[in-house]
Amino acid sequence: MSALKNDTFLRALLREPVDYTPTWLMRQAGRYLPEYNATRARAGDFLALCKTPDLATEVTLQPLARYPLDAAILFSDILTVPDAMGLGLYFAQGEGPRFERPLREEWAIRALAAPDPADKLGYVLDAVRSIRKALDGSVPLIGFSGSPFTLACYMIEGSGSDDYRTVKSMLYQRPDLLHHILEINTRAVTDYLNAQIEAGAQAAMIFDTWGGMLSHRAYREFSLAYMARIVAGLKKENEGRRVPSILFTKGGGLWLEDMAATGCDALGLDWTIEIGDARRRVGDKVALQGNFDPLCLMGSPEAIVNEVEAILESYGPGSGHVFNLGHGINQHTPPENVNVLLDAIRKTSPGYHAG
Ligand code: CP3
Repeated sequence: MSALKNDTFLRALLREPVDYTPTWLMRQAGRYLPEYNATRARAGDFLALCKTPDLATEVTLQPLARYPLDAAILFSDILTVPDAMGLGLYFAQGEGPRFERPLREEWAIRALAAPDPADKLGYVLDAVRSIRKALDGSVPLIGFSGSPFTLACYMIEGSGSDDYRTVKSMLYQRPDLLHHILEINTRAVTDYLNAQIEAGAQAAMIFDTWGGMLSHRAYREFSLAYMARIVAGLKKENEGRRVPSILFTKGGGLWLEDMAATGCDALGLDWTIEIGDARRRVGDKVALQGNFDPLCLMGSPEAIVNEVEAILESYGPGSGHVFNLGHGINQHTPPENVNVLLDAIRKTSPGYHAG
């Protein structure tokens, strides 16, 4: 495996000096890109795209061919893990993810088992190896998983939800059952992320999309505690290099100190928090990734540039910031606005890394 030509992203995650603020975008390969839509049409549907390593490789590389990004992210989905547990993932047209067999009955919950990634998720590991080969050391590859709690939300509801009433009912009526699911998910996610790292993922990100809808106490007990166990169980080094971990709880701005205490290397921030405040709160414990409002990309070039400058100024001088969106890029984003964003970061950020 050739040496990395651009390791700015990995260095920033470890708060080592960099010349500019490295950048990637959540959901950088997605429906806002016409070339993505063309490949997805060739695959037939989204899941076929995820399950065909050659096509997953192709779409992973598409945003990098168009834009000067500092990292690639594996093209896959967090819900491949419950799919591998036998819940039957499908995507209803225009309605988001669904499971054929949501986890509701106690007997089904007791029968749940963590899948062997090499067996049930081999197509993801094949994609990781194929993407690494295609990247040829140009930029690092990020592997990812959902958090145990966020996976449980989809597994129990059987789809997305406005209020996660079924999940919260279980949390308050039968916390033992929810804890059992979270135990299994924790083992599954730890094994899965370690398998991605062994296959060549150079950083690992945990997406906790729904932890932010929990109460202060429930967040610690049902989401953070399990993410902390995953962080502790992750392989920390591969190919002679640190493999940094990133925790992202959407809506988790109130809990950054606790998240930083898990031992992860970086925290993902949504757009609701001032990044300078976040930096003061976490000190030198972790790096920060974020926190541009993805819908600002619907704005004028001036609005985009102003927001970039405000975020860079708020973070201030020095390393430890990976520029990113606070959540996935919207499918209606004009692709040329991403150039405006990246140009502004490349132009302004070196001033914060001088000397
Ligand atoms: O960032 C990337 O480019 C990597 C690919 C990636 C996808 N999903 C591809 C995808 C990643 C990292 C994810 C993570 C994911 N998936 C999360 C956590 C991050 C977040 O967004 O909060 C969640 C909650 C999911 C579950 C999921 N997958 C939902 C709710 C949906 C439907 C919503 C939507 O945007 O349509 C998906 C589908 C999905 N995953 C798409 C993509 C590109 C769109 C599907 C399509 O092409 O039709």
